[in-house]
Amino acid sequence: MKHETLEKNATLLLIFSFLVVTIGGLVQIVPLFYLQNTIEQVEGMRPYTPLELAGRNVYIREGCYTCHSQMIRPFRDEVERYGHFSLAAESQYDHPFQWGSKRTGPDLARVGNKYSDEWHREHLANPRNVVPESVMPGYAYLQDKEVDAKGIGKHLATLNLTVNNGNGAMYTEEAIASAEADMLAQATGENTDGLLQRYPRTVARNFDGDPRLTEMDALIAYLQMLGTLVDFSTFKADVSR
Ligand code: HEC
Repeated sequence: MKHETLEKNATLLLIFSFLVVTIGGLVQIVPLFYLQNTIEQVEGMRPYTPLELAGRNVYIREGCYTCHSQMIRPFRDEVERYGHFSLAAESQYDHPFQWGSKRTGPDLARVGNKYSDEWHREHLANPRNVVPESVMPGYAYLQDKEVDAKGIGKHLATLNLTVNNGNGAMYTEEAIASAEADMLAQATGENTDGLLQRYPRTVARNFDGDPRLTEMDALIAYLQMLGTLVDFSTFKADVSR
């Protein structure tokens, strides 16, 4: 009988529906504020090096994400083609993330080390040089655009503002101050001590064979590290969570 009153009175029904939705919403949302970290910590993950970050900026600017995803889903066909499915931790330093929603080309989450630098250089300059049936556009001009190494420290500092992953700042003051030097070290393979100490598992070499520091260097450095930070021969997923 009491329920009938509620059902026959539109205002009352509205008020009670609102209450129910509010309580349900709070029950779902409030616990998230008390979780220290929703991302499992995984060994090997580190923020991007300045050079990789510059390459990632080229990747975003050129819209590579409109044709390539960076997210291997936990399905058999994907895992057999691309490798271990993507972990949340592998995108933890991505602002913005590059999961993508379209695969005109293959997923790139683990493309690192799959090809040589020369292959990437040829492929980016004109994909049909190495894959005759490719529909990917060419990006030969990246070879002639120099990277602004001076400004990259500011980018690191800016990324620190976006971080909320429970680990404090993404980049230390020291990393920000050394950003330009780290970038040059990675693109030449010289004086890499500081770089390797700040960014373990970093590959440092001249990626495009050109003495200048070009966007081609940066983009290839980025592509070559994708999916290589976590060692999946020793990684065990925590299935208890
Ligand atoms: C119009 C869609 C399109 C765009 C935009 C595009 N690609 Fe591709 N990409 C493809 C296709 C299709 C292939 C597969 C054929 C080939 O290897 O060229 C491919 C292949 C690749 C591969 C080889 C992947 C593998 O596992 O074999 C890499 C690396 C790559 N693209 C990087 C890039 C980068 C970096 C950009 C941006 C600068 C980019 N692509 C932009 C369509 C695209």
